[in-house]
This record gives sequence, structure tokens and C-alpha cells, in this order.
Amino acid sequence: MSGDLVRPFAAGIDGASGGVDPAGVVSERRLSDLRGLFRDAAALERAVGEGDEVVYRVVAAPVPEVEGEVPFSVTTIEAGRVGDEFYMTRGHAHPEPQGEVYFGLSGRGVLLMYDGEEVRWVEIRPGVAGYIPPGWAHRTANVGGEPFRFLAVYPGSAGHDYAIVAEGGMGARVVRSAAGYEVVEEPGGAGPAVREYYRRRKKRG
Ligand SMILES: [Fe+2]
Repeated sequence: MSGDLVRPFAAGIDGASGGVDPAGVVSERRLSDLRGLFRDAAALERAVGEGDEVVYRVVAAPVPEVEGEVPFSVTTIEAGRVGDEFYMTRGHAHPEPQGEVYFGLSGRGVLLMYDGEEVRWVEIRPGVAGYIPPGWAHRTANVGGEPFRFLAVYPGSAGHDYAIVAEGGMGARVVRSAAGYEVVEEPGGAGPAVREYYRRRKKRG
């Protein structure tokens, strides 16, 4: 354990701006930070050259990521696409087998989850909570025409493994379709090492 526990406090959550008050760490990801994640690499490079805009921003409450604490943050994903694929987060798995809750604040998004074998997804709108069980990687995409914002609440000891998603993918992509969007599973699936990574994280103790 590191440091003292946080004192009780209340934070303002602004669903219209994505603000958290008081705020802790704020992080931004631009198109150039998402290289290797979108299917259409040429379209991504064109968009990087045309201004490299911010794809998403995460504003965290001032709660440390340590065991026992329950950090929370608001993510804003801008509206846009790279080729046919909607703007999305990098995606990660929790190295420790811990769950997480996402709660929709504004706009419309898809919460995509992957356990190395199976793909599951749920649509998140204002007033809808999505549950991510332990052992499932997760990524969100904005499938609407305005910013998509959600509150995330997670155990402080969960950690973030971005590399497993960069290497093993999410098993599916969220793309434009005649109906608005669809979640298209990728053929082939992950290799045995990726499947084993997730299997280990679904077991407790
Ligand atoms: Fe997470």
C-alpha cells in the first residue's frame, strides 16, 4: 500500500462538457496516439496529416490508483471515423482480474468487450450502465454524431494493460453501416497466448 487514503469528498460530473470538479489527472489521445489500432492505416495517416485531432480525453477524479480506492473518471470521445471505423479508445485489459462499471452521460457509444475468444458489446446511452466483468478487455467507440461521454468507476488495483489489445485486438470492430453502425467480428481470432492471458484473468485467487 502506498500513501494515505483519500478524505471523503463530492465531485461535480458535467455530462455536457465532460468535466470533473475537482479533477485529477487529465489525459488526451490524438489520432497519432492510436496508430496500429484502426484497420485503415492509410486513412489514419491522412487524418494525422490533416491536423491530428484529439480523439478522446479522460478527466479523472483525484483518487489514486491503489488497492482499496475506487477511482473514477469521465471519458469524452469525439464524433468521427477513420475510414469506416468509429473513433474509439485504445482499449485495455486489467492485469488484475477486476471488474468495472461504465455509465452513459451524453451521446451514444458502444462498449466492446473481448475475452480472447468471445466478443460481447452493449450500447451505452445516458442513463445506461455497462458492466465489464473481470477478464474482459474493453474499448468504447462513439457511434453517434455528437461527443460520447461516460463515467467509469473501477478498482484502484485493476491496472491497465494496453499492449494486450494492441497485440491481440478486440475480436471485432465498430464500423459504419446502413443502419448507423454494426459490430463486425474479425475472422481468425486471437492466438493461444492471448487466449491464455484472458483465461488466467477470469480465475479468482
Ligand atoms: Fe478498465
